[in-house]
Amino acid sequence: MPLEINQVRASFFEALNNIKSLQELDELRVKFTGKKGDLTLLLRSLGKLPPDERRQAGQDVNNLRDEIENAIASMSKKIRDSENEKQEIQERIDITLPGRGRLSGAFHPVIQTMHEIANIMQGLGYSVASGPEIEEEFYNFECLNVPKWHPARDMQDTFYFPDGKLLRTHTSPVQIRSMLKYGAPLRIICPGKVYRRDNDTTHSPMFNQMEGLLIDKDVPFSQMKGTMSEMLNAFFGKSLKSRFRASYFPFTEPSMELDIECVECSGHDEHCRVCHGTGWLEVVGMGMVHPNVIRAGKIDPDEYNGFAFGIGLDRMAMLKYGISDLRLLFDGNVSYLNSCFNSGLEEVSC
Ligand code: PHE
Repeated sequence: MPLEINQVRASFFEALNNIKSLQELDELRVKFTGKKGDLTLLLRSLGKLPPDERRQAGQDVNNLRDEIENAIASMSKKIRDSENEKQEIQERIDITLPGRGRLSGAFHPVIQTMHEIANIMQGLGYSVASGPEIEEEFYNFECLNVPKWHPARDMQDTFYFPDGKLLRTHTSPVQIRSMLKYGAPLRIICPGKVYRRDNDTTHSPMFNQMEGLLIDKDVPFSQMKGTMSEMLNAFFGKSLKSRFRASYFPFTEPSMELDIECVECSGHDEHCRVCHGTGWLEVVGMGMVHPNVIRAGKIDPDEYNGFAFGIGLDRMAMLKYGISDLRLLFDGNVSYLNSCFNSGLEEVSC
């Protein structure tokens, strides 16, 4: 009998050493002290012992039971303590960690440019008009004095839809739409996206323009130049070198282009990838509105005249914020765009 008691003790403690969870501990408890447990069987077998051995063996088995129960209780406490500790470590809040900070959004440089120029033009009495990006040939070309056979259609490589509609190649169709809608006199601007089959450092298949149109009586050519100079001075807040250059657009006569000194090389690099060595960037096309266009807008060109202009908003943003590759504006690279804030872009908390 004493031998069996020792065997049960040894096998209990050996098993106890390998216990890792409360569930395993409970299984061990049942194995030894349950109804059919080793210890219970030992107790039951006491009856079969001769009376003189029974007393001592009874005491030994009871001692073993106490020992087992105590060992189980302390093991259970140990496991619970270590589980609690683990949980505490997991759930501990490190109050020394830095906070998450607050993200702030910002207007894209092009949108900000659009807002700034629109504000300036609104200050000069222009209202904001709009037109569709999917446009009809009629408004994009025909009414703008560009009939089908006209070579100027090649100047603007157009994306056509199978039904003959197209992605507007400029914001100029809004000139016609506005004249038809509001009549004369008229002062409107129309900022928006335009599309051409073009892609290099200074051209993107989608870019942003702002159209402007003024129709009134006896509008002088000098008013157009004055308006553009006013806009440039207000936008850049300093005088950048600029020049008006004679040009050609079918919808204006005479026509001019406004160039601004190249942001990248200021005219000092004949291999400049931004201005291709010319030292200038074309930013605005303009001219006195062609009588045929005024007529297409159902206004009498003998009574009214005016001027129109198309500002390249992406180019203006590049110039103002010192961006050397047009494509950076459309890549959506957030860290690059963030770096533009140092150049004075307005941040918006969100
Ligand atoms: N629509 C012309 C372009 O996209 C710009 C322009 C607008 C020129 C208005 C003259 C008058 O190049």
